[in-house]
Parts: sequence; C-alpha cells; structure tokens
Amino acid sequence: MAEVDGIKPIYADNAATTALSEYALSKMLPYFTEQYGNPSSIHTFGIAAKNAVENARRTVAQAIGARVNEIYFTSGGTEADNWALFAACRLKKKQGKHIVTTQIEHSAVYRTALELEKQGYEITFLIPDTYGLITPEQIADAVRPDTILVSVMLASNEVGTVLPIADMAAAAKRYGALFHTDAVQAVGHIPVDVRGLGVDMLSLSAHKFHGPKGAGALYASIRVPLAPMIFGGGQEKGRRSGTANVTGAVGMAAALEESVNNLERDASHLTFMRDHLIAKLLTLPGVSLTGHPTQRLPGHASFFVSGVEGEPLVRALSDLGICVSSGSACSAGSGEPSRVLVAMGYEMLRRESKERAAPVRISLSRYNTLEEMDRIVSLFPQAIEIAREKTAALFSFDDTVFDE
Ligand SMILES: Cc1ncc(COP(=O)(O)O)c(C=O)c1O
Repeated sequence: MAEVDGIKPIYADNAATTALSEYALSKMLPYFTEQYGNPSSIHTFGIAAKNAVENARRTVAQAIGARVNEIYFTSGGTEADNWALFAACRLKKKQGKHIVTTQIEHSAVYRTALELEKQGYEITFLIPDTYGLITPEQIADAVRPDTILVSVMLASNEVGTVLPIADMAAAAKRYGALFHTDAVQAVGHIPVDVRGLGVDMLSLSAHKFHGPKGAGALYASIRVPLAPMIFGGGQEKGRRSGTANVTGAVGMAAALEESVNNLERDASHLTFMRDHLIAKLLTLPGVSLTGHPTQRLPGHASFFVSGVEGEPLVRALSDLGICVSSGSACSAGSGEPSRVLVAMGYEMLRRESKERAAPVRISLSRYNTLEEMDRIVSLFPQAIEIAREKTAALFSFDDTVFDE
C-alpha cells in the first residue's frame, strides 16, 4: 500500500472487508498448488479436496453451534441472503405471502425483499429507533397468520448496533413464520449460536472475519428443507450446484476457527480502541455518535459529522492516510443518502435538506493499534476542515447553477 509522508496508511474499513489472516492463507495454499482436485472426482485428488470441504463444513458448523448437515456453502453473504428469502417463499407457499423485514437491512436482504414485492409478496419494512434498534414487540405486532418469514440482521453494517435476535425469533414463532438473520457482521466478532438464537436460517461471509472474499455460508436448520438455488451437477446435496470453492471453504473455516478461538481477547482489544476513539472524536465540534452507545459491535465506531458531504470527508481522510467509509461500502459509491440512517431519523441526509452532514464509519480489526487510534484522532479535525471547505465550494457552485 502506497505510503503517505512515509507512513503506512491506516486501514479502518473492516466492516467493508478484512485482511486475509496468515493462518487462513497458509491453510488455503496447498489447495491451490498441490491438492487441486475436484471434490466430485473419486480419485485421490478428488478425495483430498472433498475431505477438505467436509472438514471445513464441520468447523463452520461447530463455530456457530449448528449440525454439520445444516451448513451450505455459498459465494458469500449476498447469495446466502437471497437464498434464505427465496427458499422461505417456496417452502411456505401454502401459508401466505407476507414477509416482515426492516429498513436497516443490508441491500442483499432489502433489495431481495423489493424484488419479492414485485412478484406479489407483501413486505412489512419495520422502522428502527434512533439507535438502529428494532424491538421484539415490533415483530410480535407485525406477524400474522399469513407471515411466512421474518428477516432481521444480527448486527448493523452501518451503525454497528447489535439487535436482540433471540427475543425477536421467539416473537416470530407465534404464527409459525420462519426466522432468518443476516449475521454477516456478527459472526467471528461476537458469540453466535444458532440454537441459542432460535433462528431457522443464518447468513455469514468469510471476508468479514479475515477469510477470503467470495466465500460464505447459509445455515438452514434441519427442519428447513431448502429449495435449490442453482441447478446443475447436484453439489451441496443437490441444493446449490457448482464445483465447490475448495480454497474458499478451507480459508473461511480456518479464519472462523481462529476468530472464535480468540474472540474474547480480540473483543476486549477492539472495545478498548473503539471506546478510546469514540471518546476523543466526540469532543470535536459537530461530531456525534450514530448507533447504540453500548449495544454495538466491538470494533465499530460510527459518527455523524455536520457541515460536510461524505465523499469529501472520506477523500480528505484518505489523503491523510486514513481509510474509512461513509456509511456502507455498497451505498457509499452511489451518491444516494443512506436509507438506513434516514430511517433512523437523520432527515438532514435527504438531498432536499439545506443542512449538510455526513456519516462516517470507522471499523477496526485485531490488526489495528491504539497508536493508530491516536493518529486518527489527531488528523480528524484537519480532514473535517478540508471537507467543510470542499463541501461549501460544491454547494455555492450548485446554488449558482440552480439560480440560473
Ligand atoms: C450485513 C451484510 N450483509 C450482507 C453482506 C454481503 O456479503 P458479501 O459481500 O459476502 O456478499 C454484507 C457485506 O457488506 C453485509 O455487511
């Protein structure tokens, strides 16, 4: 990575993606170079690859308290989320066409729900409070006899808030709806146990916990016979065809095992850095915290900065050697205001608002240090100043155009 003034940039955008751990890489390498067989082949190369995939499945299952036959490998969190929603529709065809989800979901759930709406499903999008929380009571009020699925994320990618999923799943059971949780930001960071949570389906993604990109899994309880998503050679018990991503599965399992084994140690290091950063940044004028003050992911700090647009702020920070994001990586590039923050009540994010303000997300990993937090704190005021000047220039130009 290019250095800024002879200093290595700080990577603090771990909710977007994480560095592959050396341990995971070391476990993956032999399956690129020596054991490159196709798990469906019956010779020794194929058997070695198949064993690797099945060992990975066992490790992933153990890490989240599932049975080995309840884990289906996917290409990541997006595919797992899509699969969960479409599978529930197929499975519960006779029960109804009502789905309950929330305004804070990642697009992988939110846009899938919008697609299902187009196909004739009725979707209830629950509105969060200002912390990004949804309550079990909201679920209990929303479910009906024709509700087939409730899908609520375990932890928010934008504001880091951790939601009370176990109580929500219990509330959803009233009329027999299935419960899915997008646990992509939670797995590997906080304890996740599918039985304790009482969920029917759960999505996870390797690149959020120092595994490789393009690998993930859907947990589906044995009570939930998943409808196939991809047709072909019959892999993943006929439910998700395609030659297995052997290195992806091996890397995901190794990264998850490492994260879960060190969960407490890493969480206390992350929480300490996060709280230090939050305390210091909140002393700056115009900076406020978004998300829940305590019920949040250990490495997640998110703020709202007044008088700036998100892009100039993220660029100014990047020029100073600090890599963070403005909201989620997926919506950050779109120029659209964050749907999640608007739903949480941040009305000034709407385009038509005269007030300028932007979210900024600083997401840490076990590889960050306290010295880096101090560097972020010391450079933040400079970045805000640069971004405020750029924002003001942008808007005086916009006004001129508008006046004509
Ligand atoms: C909450 C959440 N769900 C789903 C996804 C999508 O995961 P993937 O990048 O593996 O497709 C992400 C990634 O940003 C996420 O944060």
